[in-house]
Amino acid sequence: MPPRLKTVPDKWIVEQTLADLGDTTPERVEARFAEVRQRFDEQSAIHSADPETWRTFVVAWTGRKSGVLSLITDHWLKPASPELKRAVGQELNKLKAHIEAVLEQKRIEIEAAAERAAQARERIDLSLPGIERATGTRHLIRQTFEELERIFLAIGFSVVQGPEIESPYYNFEALNIPEHHPARDNMDTFYIEGTRGGRLLRTHTSPMQIRTMEKQPPPVRIIVPGKVYRRDNPDATHGYMFHQIEGLAVDTDITFCDFKGTVEYFVREFLGPKAKTRLRPSYFPFTEPSAEVDATCHVCGGSGCRVCKFSGWIELFGAGMVDPAVYGFVKYDAKKLSGFAFGMGVDRLAMMKYGVSELPLLYQNDVRFLRQFP
Ligand code: DAH
Repeated sequence: MPPRLKTVPDKWIVEQTLADLGDTTPERVEARFAEVRQRFDEQSAIHSADPETWRTFVVAWTGRKSGVLSLITDHWLKPASPELKRAVGQELNKLKAHIEAVLEQKRIEIEAAAERAAQARERIDLSLPGIERATGTRHLIRQTFEELERIFLAIGFSVVQGPEIESPYYNFEALNIPEHHPARDNMDTFYIEGTRGGRLLRTHTSPMQIRTMEKQPPPVRIIVPGKVYRRDNPDATHGYMFHQIEGLAVDTDITFCDFKGTVEYFVREFLGPKAKTRLRPSYFPFTEPSAEVDATCHVCGGSGCRVCKFSGWIELFGAGMVDPAVYGFVKYDAKKLSGFAFGMGVDRLAMMKYGVSELPLLYQNDVRFLRQFP
């Protein structure tokens, strides 16, 4: 008698021979196998939930030495009487086929479940928020440059750029500022020692007027954005470097009206349609006549306030009709040509328009300041 298996309490079924059980006809044999099969089905449903239990269950039924199928072979088939042998053999084969099919089906299910579980464990949770990196914005100076460029590009100007290290010729002479001319005094200049001809850091963007006219025949319609340098003592409105936009228009038929119209168009575009323009006589060596362009105060609208020092007007930039002497330096025909020029301080315009009180704020890269101009 084989010992009873704890894992399969139904071992009793096969612990006796069929004869002992009284199964002496093929019908009884069939009924007995049906009972075994029903037990198997019940048990497989119960034990399939957990893989470990299932493995023990499979061994208990199909194990070579003491699995139920082996026991049936030893206890039921082998000792069966010759008349019953065929029926027992057939029933045993049917039972084996049934058990194998169920086990195979279950094996597939268990493997698929294990695969799904592994995938669930390894899956990256894409719903987790990522690392947020702050996105920068364009600096206020860059924004102002782009605004100024937009305004002039719209009326046919194009943008050119030039060197920040200049020769005295382009920075002064060709702009009608000869040596010892007092105009050189108020542009405290950085000279670069040891350079041939005494190179300097350009004090304004005006040299690009000369470089452009040297290179191309009229008509000329350009703006020149860029950095300029002066030996100023730093304070709330001065630094050793700042930004300018130069403008130059030269053609055969440009009049003072064109100059004034362009300036007024610019002021309206930059400060709003209500802003008015005023030209005040001034002096620059490379323009004649020269003017300071003023606009009605953008804070009080012209009635007078602290920002405009109660004058109602704000000084914007210098400008004028190109001095004929300048054409002589670039071999332009001064008798046939005329034009106007202007030079704006971009930092000044940005501070004025956006209410920035201290120039250094523009260069300290403090995000609390920069964030205010998204
Ligand atoms: N270059 C001058 C400066 O830096 C500004 C200026 C004034 C430029 C009048 C011009 C102009 O083109 O016409 O102070």
